[in-house]
Amino acid sequence: MRQKIVAGNWKMNNDMAETEMFLVQLKKQVIPEGVSLMIAPAFTNLNHTYQSVKDHPVTVVAQNMHQSEKGAFTGEVSAAMLKSVGIKTVILGHSERRSIFNEDNDLLAEKVNTALKNEMTVIFCVGEELSHRETDNHFKVISEQLEEGLFHLSETNWKNIIIAYEPVWAIGTGETASPEQAQEMHAFIRKTIADAYSNTIAKNVSILYGGSVKPDNASEIFSQDDVDGGLIGGASLNVESFMKIANAFE
Ligand code: G3H
Repeated sequence: MRQKIVAGNWKMNNDMAETEMFLVQLKKQVIPEGVSLMIAPAFTNLNHTYQSVKDHPVTVVAQNMHQSEKGAFTGEVSAAMLKSVGIKTVILGHSERRSIFNEDNDLLAEKVNTALKNEMTVIFCVGEELSHRETDNHFKVISEQLEEGLFHLSETNWKNIIIAYEPVWAIGTGETASPEQAQEMHAFIRKTIADAYSNTIAKNVSILYGGSVKPDNASEIFSQDDVDGGLIGGASLNVESFMKIANAFE
């Protein structure tokens, strides 16, 4: 069922001491009713974070995982390892994974399969670069990312999929998509899913917006019909701004 979600992707920020400071603050907050709050710390802090908030309505999320079940993959982390420390949700296909670590749609499809096989929920990121938008190719790029990364899934798999639309040109730049641009792309994503599967599946999938969401622009973005929340980078590192965003739903 479609949920309102505010997920903080900490990227490579917050060591153990900073994570602990954040958690002490977070646990004093009242989490708005009907909003699923998620945080994605670095691998090193997942277990501590999970243990710390396990009695609170906060979901702890991994930022990535490897596509193989186990083996000689130095430096990588498997789905089973994440699950063994309580983590059941993973972000896949973030634009930084796609561009810096060369993760393409085929690899991401494999990662999605492994995550779902391990009964995890996937936050699957899609997003176009500025050049795609300037050449009017943004819808094509997003539909390819959806088709090649997700459209091999069965209908029942979709209950474990959350989409995050993150235009690359808006990530960490301070430049956010306008509420209308976000709504236009979210509606397109929902229609693309409806055409590939069904209206019911499209209606029930949560689609988050990411890219320079801040306390002062969140409510306008979240008020759009097809925007179900946000995947927040920089503004999720501070409890006060993160909670302001979590409270930005009308
Ligand atoms: O995963 C989060 C996004 O990359 C957005 O990051 O809020 O710092 O622009 P940002």
